[in-house]
Amino acid sequence: MQANIFAHRGASKYAPENTMASFSLAHQQGADGIETDVHLTKDHIPVLMHDERVNRTTNSSGYIKDYTFEQLRQLDAGAWFSPEFAGSRILSLEECLEWTQDKSLYLNIELKNNKIDYKHLETIVYDKLSRYHLLHRTILSTFNPISVKRLKHLNQNIGVALLTSKRSRNLVSAAKDLGANAIHIKYRLLDHLLVDQSHQENMAIRAYTVNRPRQMLRALSIGCDGVFADVPEMAVHYRDQFQN
Ligand code: G3P
Ligand code: MG
Repeated sequence: MQANIFAHRGASKYAPENTMASFSLAHQQGADGIETDVHLTKDHIPVLMHDERVNRTTNSSGYIKDYTFEQLRQLDAGAWFSPEFAGSRILSLEECLEWTQDKSLYLNIELKNNKIDYKHLETIVYDKLSRYHLLHRTILSTFNPISVKRLKHLNQNIGVALLTSKRSRNLVSAAKDLGANAIHIKYRLLDHLLVDQSHQENMAIRAYTVNRPRQMLRALSIGCDGVFADVPEMAVHYRDQFQN
């Protein structure tokens, strides 16, 4: 099976992460899918940002959970990256789903509930995906093991990945026990043994973040099922070259 390239927060090397500019560019660059991160606003709207706070990627400060969606919409989510992107807006999950609907893209929605365990985040995201008929091409992922369980409890058939930046000896069996379908692991922890162990348990394994050709070729050669790349065009190029 061909390895899938997910644009990490969109084509985030070239455009402000998790914005429409970044997602559009990822699509243009031939990514198979988009990876994005989701939090909840004060009024329980799922929005796409990486950090719990708006400080790094907007012109304001404070926690997402303390802003209403309307307040968040007033912020500039692009000027921090470059003046060219000034005026970019924070997206709601719904806007992203709307945009994805008529494109042949996979989605990886990462629930950012490992630091703040947003109440009902799993159900809110699940319901939106269901409403947009996108569940079949979405992988939900989280660093929070309990959340993996909650997601599988909502629907046994959805694709859920356990995210990890640690490699414990029992990682694959722990992921399996939670009901995960895949492991998403930090690239430097990826090796042949882990790929084989995952595949023996019928589990996919994908690596983040793969931004160099050397890393991409290594990931492919050991049988990794997918990568998250800030530079999707590079990853697509090497994947296509490797596969042919
Ligand atoms: O989902 C892969 C990757 O995005 C996980 O780490 O911190 O970039 O969200 P992070
Ligand atoms: Mg992420």
